[in-house]
Amino acid sequence: MSTVNVEIADRILVATIDRPEKLNALNTEVLDGLEAAFERAKTDASVGAVIVTGAGPKAFIAGADIAELSTMTPVSGRRHALRGQAVFARLESLGKPSIAAINGFALGGGCELALACTMRIAAENARLGQPEVKLGILPGYGGSQRLARIVGEGRAMELCLTGEPITAAEAYRIGLVNRVVPAGEALSAARELAGKILANAPLAVAFTMDAIHNGLDLPLEDGLELEATLFGVCASTADMREGMAAFLEKRPPRFEGK
Ligand code: COA
Repeated sequence: MSTVNVEIADRILVATIDRPEKLNALNTEVLDGLEAAFERAKTDASVGAVIVTGAGPKAFIAGADIAELSTMTPVSGRRHALRGQAVFARLESLGKPSIAAINGFALGGGCELALACTMRIAAENARLGQPEVKLGILPGYGGSQRLARIVGEGRAMELCLTGEPITAAEAYRIGLVNRVVPAGEALSAARELAGKILANAPLAVAFTMDAIHNGLDLPLEDGLELEATLFGVCASTADMREGMAAFLEKRPPRFEGK
C-alpha cells in the first residue's frame, strides 16, 4: 500500500500521507508519493484544487524522517534538501490552489509543506513548529524562507530559533494559518473552502494566485504592472464575458476555464 493516498472527487485532489504509526513522517517513499500526486494534479485537467492532509487523528506530518536524516553526509544532506524543496515547489507552482488540512502535528517538513500550500486550515488540536535546531539542523524544505514571508521575520526567527511548537490558536493569531476548526474537521473545512474557490472563474483564480504570489517578490511598481497585464488578459477570456453576462442577467455563471 502506498504511503500517499490520492482521491479525486468534485474536482478536488486530496493527497493523504498515510504513515500514522510514524506520525506521517516524511521519508523518501512519502516524498515520491507526494511528487506523483502533485504531478497528477498538474496534468489532470479535471483537478481544480489540491488538499494535503495526514492520516489518523494525531499528525499532519511530524517532520522529515529523523531515522533517514541521521545518516546524511554533507553531500547527501544538500541533495536531500534540494529534493524536498523541489517537490514542495511543484505544489506551490501548480497554478491551482492548494490547502493544507492540518489535522495534528505539523512539525519541521510538515510545517514546511503547509507553508508551500496556498492556504492553511488547522484543527484546534494541531501543533505547528520548526524544531530542527533541537536536532542540530535548520529547516531544509523551504521553512527558513517561506515562514518569514508569511508571518514576518521576527516571528519566523522565534519559531525557528526556539524550535518550540505553537498551538493552532497562536498560529492563527500570527497569520500562519487561515482559520482554526474543531478537531476532526480540518479536511471537511478544506473541502468547503476549495469548493468556494472552484465556483469561481478558473483562469481568474489562476491569474490572481500568480499576481499575489509572484508579485510579492517584485518591487511594488513591477507587481502593479503584472496585475495590470493579467487584468487585461482576463478581458480575452470567455469566462469574463460569462461572469459579467450572468451578473447582468441575474443568473449563476457557468465558467469553462476558457
Ligand atoms: N521522524 C521519524 N519518526 C518519527 C518522527 C520523525 N520526524 N516523528 C515521530 N516519529 C515516530 C516516533 O519515533 C515513534 O516511532 P516508534 O513508535 O517506532 O518509536 C512514532 O513516530 C510515534 O511518535 P512518539 O514520539 O512516540 O509520539 P509522541 O506523541 O510521544 O510525540 C512528537 C509526538 C511529534 C512530539 C514527537 O514524535 C516528536 O518530537 N517528533 C519529531 C518532531 C521533529 O523533530 N520533527 C522535525 C524533524 S526534521
